[in-house]
Parts: sequence; structure tokens; C-alpha cells
Amino acid sequence: MEWWKSATIYQVYPRSFADSDGDGIGDLRGIIDRVDYFATLGIDAVWLSPIYASPQDDNGYDISDYLAIEPTFGTLDDFDELVAVFHAAGIRIVMDLVVNHTSDEHAWFRESRSSLDNPKRDWYVWRPARPGTTAGEPGAEPNNWPSHFFGPSWALDELTGEYYLHLFSRKQPDLNWENHQVREEVYSMMRWWLDRGVDGFRMDVVNFLSKPEGYPDGVLAPGALFGDGFAHYASGPRIHEYLREMHDEVFASREGAFVTVGEMPAATIEQARLYTDPARRELDMIFQFEHVELDHPDGKFDYIPLDLVALKASLARWQVGLADVGWNSLYWNNHDQPRAVSRFGDAEEHRVQSAKCLATVLHLMRGTPYIYQGEELGMTNAGFTAIEQYRDIETLNYWRGAEQTSELLAAFAVASRDNARTPMHWTPGENAGFTTGEPWIGVPSNHVEINAQTELADPHSVLHHYRRLIALRHSEPVIVEGDFELLYPDDPRLFAYRRTLGDTVLVVVSNWSRDEVPLPAELRHPGVEPLIANDSTAGATTLGAWEARAYLLG
Ligand code: NOJ
Repeated sequence: MEWWKSATIYQVYPRSFADSDGDGIGDLRGIIDRVDYFATLGIDAVWLSPIYASPQDDNGYDISDYLAIEPTFGTLDDFDELVAVFHAAGIRIVMDLVVNHTSDEHAWFRESRSSLDNPKRDWYVWRPARPGTTAGEPGAEPNNWPSHFFGPSWALDELTGEYYLHLFSRKQPDLNWENHQVREEVYSMMRWWLDRGVDGFRMDVVNFLSKPEGYPDGVLAPGALFGDGFAHYASGPRIHEYLREMHDEVFASREGAFVTVGEMPAATIEQARLYTDPARRELDMIFQFEHVELDHPDGKFDYIPLDLVALKASLARWQVGLADVGWNSLYWNNHDQPRAVSRFGDAEEHRVQSAKCLATVLHLMRGTPYIYQGEELGMTNAGFTAIEQYRDIETLNYWRGAEQTSELLAAFAVASRDNARTPMHWTPGENAGFTTGEPWIGVPSNHVEINAQTELADPHSVLHHYRRLIALRHSEPVIVEGDFELLYPDDPRLFAYRRTLGDTVLVVVSNWSRDEVPLPAELRHPGVEPLIANDSTAGATTLGAWEARAYLLG
């Protein structure tokens, strides 16, 4: 069986993980120094968010040289050492692959923008102003797609008088994947990293690579400023062809066992089955977004309380939908999402218990679980109260374009990406042991209580609960391979499911509330010691606040 089916993958956001040289920004040496931490947790692979040379407009998701390490993070020698040290500890390294766009400071883009007939002109997406308009006037953009970081997705380049496409910031021009030289360069770059020893790639917004001919306008909802671009470029016309080609060019003839995971906003189960069907040779798994979008149907910064019944239904649909074909990735957190314990759990009154409850429910499902740095400590949202505390381009762009109210600041405190990007809490000491310098972004004061040093010493910590869950995936085949069945789908507080493999049954029960809730009789297993539980607060017939238990039967 593929190694990643029984693996847990840990995401490192290098900027915020560990700073070895006191400049306030994390670096590769900081990661190397923590190899024992990963070994203690028992994780199988580390996914590094981008460490390539970058002007850091979007914290490294804007790459100016795919074959160089960002100097703030270190050197290629440091990288080679990191791979060697982690491999020696039995931990694989997965690189972030950001090839929907480059930085506007990449040499390719500099050439491309230099003239209309530059040989690399076609490597990016250049278009004249909309017919009948004058370049530069509002509405002259070639189509009505919005950028993910607000405003139009086209920027006018004065030098040639044409617009270029940027689905993200104007410093992140989209590559033109229709151009076969672009694709060949990307594949050759991927092979170069594999030759250096990396074990796979997490592929940034990879379902956006193929755009439709003619770049048509998106449908405009009543009153909207921009059209629906997603409908055109999410899983666009040639995407399956590109991914298959990438597989054949990069992985097919290579010895080794690699993992590929594609980040895919808006992907449906039907699409995921196509992307991850091994027979189609595209990807091993995708990051889908359905379960992390249920609580803000009306916009990025417009959160509503979680509807547990809807969350259960969504996750169960994906579990069942990818049961016979394909594979799920499992996550609550990453560098783009608010902290799970603040968002889905109860960070105020039951932080430890609810963090363990969320972990139990996620990690005992079928798929490959991902842990985002600090999640295993039960780290919370940042608690920022002033706009000056934020660094994220998405948050700051939104602020600039919006009415700057205290309500909006409160919404950022719930939903900004910076909630997940504060420095890793290593110790109760100054700057949480992250840096001896001035951290690039503030350190929440609760690091005094929530930190790796304290939790390593406490067998009841969130960290040790994660460690146990990771180990169980290695030892219990039912967790890896068992069928999934959601139980009590309509119960608004109980999240329960059953996994079955042959005669082995794993029953997971959990209470997503502060109340003590009755445990249905068929879910009680008197006399059976739970395989894992978060310190029981109730009796055999009830579950206490945020209590979770798993029973292995048969
Ligand atoms: C998705 C990444 O996870 C996010 O952090 C980034 O801003 C965009 N893609 C653009 O690369």
C-alpha cells in the first residue's frame, strides 16, 4: 500500500516556525533544529510552505526563482542538509509547488512584459483593453473576473499598453499553461527538486491552471461588481490533460514513492474522483474546501455559527464519495484558515478538550490527515484588535477597499489568515521561544500556557493526544482502510461514526457542545476500554462537554 495512506503529514509555515538567527523570521535551520520534535510526534512527512526566492508579497506564494531558496530562509546547502536530516529520521519532505502564477519579479515575467514580441510574451496571459474602451479606464479590463485579493484580476502594464491576468495579487501574474514551453519548464523544475531528494508536492490552486479560450466574462449576479470567474477557470477545459502530462513527465519513469496533493478550491466530489482515480494517473489526493466554507456562505469575512449537521453531512459525503475510487485528505487547518479550536471548538471554556475532540474526529476518518503547525498544541486565533497588527495581503487589501469599521476588525479577528500565521509556540518564555529578535508578526500572550515545552511534559496535553492519534493510524488498519458510516446524522451535538474492516469495527463518538449529552444505548460499550479518549468527564451513558471516545470492537 502507498505510504501516504497510513501517514500523517505536518505542514510547516517556515516564516513562523522557528527562527535560528534572530531576524524575527523563521528559517530552514530553525526547522532542522526541530527534527526531534517531529520524530516525537511520529509524523511521516513535512510539507513546507514555499521557501523559494520571493519578494514575499504573499509570504512566498509569489516566486521569483523556482531554483533558489529565499535568502531569509537560508541556502540550498541548508535545504540539502534539511532533506538529509529529515530522511535520516524517517520523515519525508513535501514541497509546495506554486505554478498557477509566478512573482512579477521572476525573470520570465520581466522578459514577458518587456515588449509585445518578446519570445516569452506568451508565457503569461496578456490581453488588450476590452473592445470599445480605452486601456486604464474603469471597465476596460479584458473581462470581469475579480482577483482573490480584491479588485479586478487584470493589471495594465503601461510599457506595452496591455493587461496581464493575475487571479491573486498584481504581483502574482498567471502563467499561460497553454504554452507548452511553460509546462516543460515547470516539469523540468519539478524533476530538479525530486533529484534533490524531495518526496512530493502540494500543488497550489492547481485546478486553476487551465483557462478557457477567449477568457469569457463571468455571470454577473445582481448588484455585483465582478462576474463569476470561478465557473470558467476552476477545473478548466484542459486541466486533466495537464495533470496527466505532469504525471507522465515528472513521476512516471522515476523510482521512488512520491505523494501529490492538489489544492482545489470549489472542487466537487465528482471532480475529485477524476483527479484522484489512480487509473487516470493525475494526483494522489486533493484539498477540497466544502467543509471549511460552510460557516461563511455570504463572504470571506462574514462568519455564521457552525451548523454541525451540515458539517457532518459534508464530511460524510466525501468519505463515501471517495471510498471506492480516489483518496481523501483530511484537514481542519492550514495557513489560510483560522485556528480550528477557535473556529469549530470552544477556545474559551474547553480549549484542551475541544481541540482533542476535533483531532479525534478528523484523524480517525479515512484519508490522509494534515496537521498545521501549532494545531497539535491547540493554538488559538491571534486575538488581534488593531489593523496595524495584521500582515496578510488579503486582509490588508480588503481593509483598504472597505468601510473601516470596528465590526470589520472583529471579523478579521475571526477569519483573517493571520490567525494561523502567528509564530509557533515553543516555550512559555519571551516570544514563545520562536525568536530572540523582533517577530515579524505578534505572538499571542496565551503562549505562556499553550506551548510545546509545557505540553511535551504533560501526558494529558493536546500534543500527546495528537501523538497517540498519529501512532494509531500506523497500528490499526481499520483507521486506514475501513469503510465509513455516519451515525445520528441529524443530531446537532453528537458527531458519531463507524468504521468497518472485515470483523473489526471502530466506533467514534463525540460531543460538540458544552452540555452533557446522552449517549444512545447502541453507542455505549460497557466494559470496553476506549482505544483513545479525551479525559472522560461523564459517565458511561453520557458524554461530557467536548468529550470524544473511540472503541475498537471485534
Ligand atoms: C493558496 C495558498 O494557500 C494561499 O496562501 C495563497 O495566497 C494563494 N494560493 C495564492 O498562491
